[in-house]
Amino acid sequence: MNIGTSLAPNIDHYNRRISYLRVSVTDRCNLRCIYCLPVKDLRLLDHAEILSYEEILEVVIAGTECGIRKVRLTGGEPLARRNFVQFVASVCRIPKLEDVSITTNGVLLKERAKEIFDAGVHRINISLDTLHRLKYAKITGYNCFDEVWEGLKEAEAVGFSPIKINVVAIRGLNDDEFPRLAELSVKKPYHVRFIEYMSIGHDSQWKPEKYISSDEIKSKLKCIGPLHRIPRATHDGPAERYRFESARGEIGFISVLSHRFCPTCNRLRLTADGKLRPCLFADNEVDVKTPIRNRCTRQDLKELFRKTIAKKPRQHHTKIPDSRDCLRPMYAIGG
Ligand code: 5AD
Ligand code: SF4
Repeated sequence: MNIGTSLAPNIDHYNRRISYLRVSVTDRCNLRCIYCLPVKDLRLLDHAEILSYEEILEVVIAGTECGIRKVRLTGGEPLARRNFVQFVASVCRIPKLEDVSITTNGVLLKERAKEIFDAGVHRINISLDTLHRLKYAKITGYNCFDEVWEGLKEAEAVGFSPIKINVVAIRGLNDDEFPRLAELSVKKPYHVRFIEYMSIGHDSQWKPEKYISSDEIKSKLKCIGPLHRIPRATHDGPAERYRFESARGEIGFISVLSHRFCPTCNRLRLTADGKLRPCLFADNEVDVKTPIRNRCTRQDLKELFRKTIAKKPRQHHTKIPDSRDCLRPMYAIGG
């Protein structure tokens, strides 16, 4: 399909309707998760390299004029950026956006949950890979399990729904805890999502033997009971959704490597340093920061969206055992 002549500007070459933008507001993080950061060479951006909130809003508004309807704010750690709550309120006021959500590590959530909810975001993903304090410190580099747990409870108390818990599945690290983590979805309304461990960036700590497929994770959950499949809804992301019998919450599997979700991928990413990225695994980004700083028009930004959509690959070629497709590490892309 030729983008230039297509009726809808947000349909890509493979007939996917692009409606979802993941926005990284900062590459900084108050944790140092082993699956996210590079082994060495942690290069953080200077403040001047990062898009201002006003610049991000310009990009998002142009995106909504090209069919973006759903935005997720990520990082690094988004809550660690100054004045984040005011920014959230501005994003929530963008008329054509139907859904605004946040991915956070939860460390600062207890203090901010209510303000963020009142600003208009009601859906939240919290990263939590273990229920053990010591292991939490081993994975994230900081002894913050209690803060995250309190943040989770506060998010529930102020009314966030759904609350999704992201668990990166790593063999030898948290695979003994999958049933306990999954059980959180039975009594609580939490959606526990197991994410296949990916190698992102040239210098990640990923090793093939640490990878566990969604099928294997599923088999480790059999001891809890049968999982019932939930059909996909329109705005669903890449997770396959399931539920245990009479559970309040759900279980999700994000099988980036084993079952490619590329055919239904509806997303683009905006990095903190102002690059539109057509695919998590591909470095063929489109610079929007330079044009914005040279005072480009809304129309120019819309063209850059179309250009990015046109660059979306049919699928990623990331495979096990070698999954090193892209150069940027995860914290610099946005989780
Ligand atoms: N593999 C899988 N998921 C990852 N995330 C970060 N790095 C990785 C990785 N290497 C996910 C975590 C976190 C979100 C921000 O990104 O689930 O919740
Ligand atoms: Fe979409 Fe790229 Fe992810 Fe594939 S790897 S699902 S094309 S973002």
